[in-house]
Amino acid sequence: MTNTEVNNQGAQEAPARKKRIFSAIQPSGQMTLGNYLGAIRNWVEMQDEFDCVYATANLHAITVRQDPKKLKENTLNLFALLIASGVDPEKSIFFHQSQVAAHAELAWVLGTFTQFGELSRMTQFKDKSARHADNINAGLFTYPSLMAADILLYQADLVPVGEDQKQHLELTRDIAERFNGIYGKTFVVPEPYIKKNAARVRNLLDPSKKMSKSDQNTKSYILMVDEPATIMKKFRSAVTDSEACVRYAEGKDGINNLMEIYSACTGKSYEQIEDEFRGKGYGDFKNAVGEAVVAVLEPIQIRYKELISDKKYLDELARNGAASAERLAKRTIEKVYKKVGLVR
Ligand code: TRP
Repeated sequence: MTNTEVNNQGAQEAPARKKRIFSAIQPSGQMTLGNYLGAIRNWVEMQDEFDCVYATANLHAITVRQDPKKLKENTLNLFALLIASGVDPEKSIFFHQSQVAAHAELAWVLGTFTQFGELSRMTQFKDKSARHADNINAGLFTYPSLMAADILLYQADLVPVGEDQKQHLELTRDIAERFNGIYGKTFVVPEPYIKKNAARVRNLLDPSKKMSKSDQNTKSYILMVDEPATIMKKFRSAVTDSEACVRYAEGKDGINNLMEIYSACTGKSYEQIEDEFRGKGYGDFKNAVGEAVVAVLEPIQIRYKELISDKKYLDELARNGAASAERLAKRTIEKVYKKVGLVR
């Protein structure tokens, strides 16, 4: 083999650089079916196409007062649940935000490139400060600088965002551009990644609202860890309408929501679902939806139970993930400190 052949072969084998994704979820208690079908399942799928860096956002979680024991438990449980769902530490980097100090370090620096006026315009800040009027702390206000640090630290190309985080990603882009403008190209300016098959799951009793675990009525949402019998019961009590016809149409929000869930769990189109339940009642349909959801969640629940009984293994996975994250984060934070003129 000649040298050129060797080189050509080398060039062929070198894989094109995959785009990097960063995402994080706050450990704020139980995850719902809405979180699973809207975000978590997408995390799992993106792993094949992208170079993914994922974290539990526990530093973000303390912007509202937390019970320390509960916070730790929620954080570890979320980590286990995501792994049980298919987040694969062999494919992706997955760790706890608090394990990599550079998140807090970069957040401080970026805070000095974020304007008071910009933070004041964040709708999530306005909502949260109304809900937690007794604790409008500085961290709640500067939360978007920490989120920008999460993303920019890893030079992420893409960030999968729902409606509620769009404004924060916009601000992240502004901060990155501002910094790059002053110091020269330092950060990749991240783009929003529009999720391919994210289901928008609605409240089972009031489909005008999205499914949320903070709803007063536990029957309005499905938790990822709900027992199969509970899941079936909750679907049986879901609101429908009086038409007694399974079809996707305006004014049929309850049925539309169940069809969306059924479609997301089985891969069937609305048309196929309409055919399947033609001439059948809502009772049959609700049972089928319940069974489809159980079929998706039960294997995750089984794996989750195994994982949470092995704290040592989970700890090892998170530490390994954090070590890989740290290597990437270090490059960025060193560059930033140097550019800004901070003594190391
Ligand atoms: N703020 C996000 C939320 O509450 C969680 C989060 C923290 C995040 N850092 C992030 C999401 C970076 C995307 C990218 O949902």
